[in-house]
Amino acid sequence: MFWHNLKKPIIGLSPMDGVTDFACRYMMAKTAKPDVMFTEFTTVEGLFHAPEKILRDFEYSEIERPIVAQIYGATPEYFYKAAQIVCKLGFDGIDINMGCPSKAVVKRNCGAKLITAPDLAIEIIRATKEGTGGTVPYSIKTRIGYDSNVIEWWMETLLEEKPAAISIHGRTLKQMYQGKADWEAIAKAAKIIHQTETLVLGNGDITSLEEAHRRIEETGVDGVLIGRHAIGNPWVFNNHKPTREERIATAREHTAYYVQKRGETRLASLGKHLAGYLSHFPDAALLRSKILGAKNGSYQKSLSIL
Ligand SMILES: Cc1cc2nc3c(=O)[nH]c(=O)nc-3n(C[C@H](O)[C@H](O)[C@H](O)COP(=O)(O)O)c2cc1C
Repeated sequence: MFWHNLKKPIIGLSPMDGVTDFACRYMMAKTAKPDVMFTEFTTVEGLFHAPEKILRDFEYSEIERPIVAQIYGATPEYFYKAAQIVCKLGFDGIDINMGCPSKAVVKRNCGAKLITAPDLAIEIIRATKEGTGGTVPYSIKTRIGYDSNVIEWWMETLLEEKPAAISIHGRTLKQMYQGKADWEAIAKAAKIIHQTETLVLGNGDITSLEEAHRRIEETGVDGVLIGRHAIGNPWVFNNHKPTREERIATAREHTAYYVQKRGETRLASLGKHLAGYLSHFPDAALLRSKILGAKNGSYQKSLSIL
């Protein structure tokens, strides 16, 4: 049960589709390692309909541990099978996404839509738990509600299944990413969750390590997850202020690792990280447009001539 062996407070990297892929997590682990990292969310139904593609999303290296595989879907049987695969692949934990607000996901009754379908949510949790055979801990990442804040009811519902951890993004599905994350709701959740063995991680709008510690102190959560502010910015986890040279070196290493494994394909996710690395120094904008706008389509070649 790695979750309970983590030193508190826990400061982790939030799962982000199209962002927290194998290369991102590898660079995070090497540069300023978060206490826990998650894969991008992966569809359980897809694991059976397009296994080669999906299994690539589950690629990780040993230095990323503890590493948690995040899955989503709406069919309990597939969660059962997906949990078995996750265990076989050697992940430290399995996380069920009950927080994604994207239209495509919600339309299929997955992600945050499960907040409106507690019976199905419970069935999914039980199927996942059964699939792990108790060998790998399971956790849940969710939001404070669907179209209104129902955090107390929702936490009580989820806690019946005794997950190892619950991560809460302090917004409703309807809010998507608008407004501010509601840390008071997260504090309320923490109070309820602390009556059990389950750990609670707060999430939403954290921009620095200092802010992370302030939120933890104010709300009593066991830790936090940082998402958008970690893109191209692993240093958010150790408060280091990187020099221009360090930023360029990290961009080069990330690109080389990515291209070595995947070739120059699906560069969109890489571009997001490069935009983050190549910022916060005087000629950053110029470098960014040179690299990201390179006509040869090769970030690696463009970075090598800097
Ligand atoms: C591009 C992007 C992709 C995301 N993908 C996922 C995902 O796959 N699984 C998940 O649980 N949350 C996902 N999220 C939500 C984040 O994990 C996090 O909850 C949210 O961004 C709020 O945290 P932040 O303000 O620190 O970014 C995603 C967010 C973004 C911006």
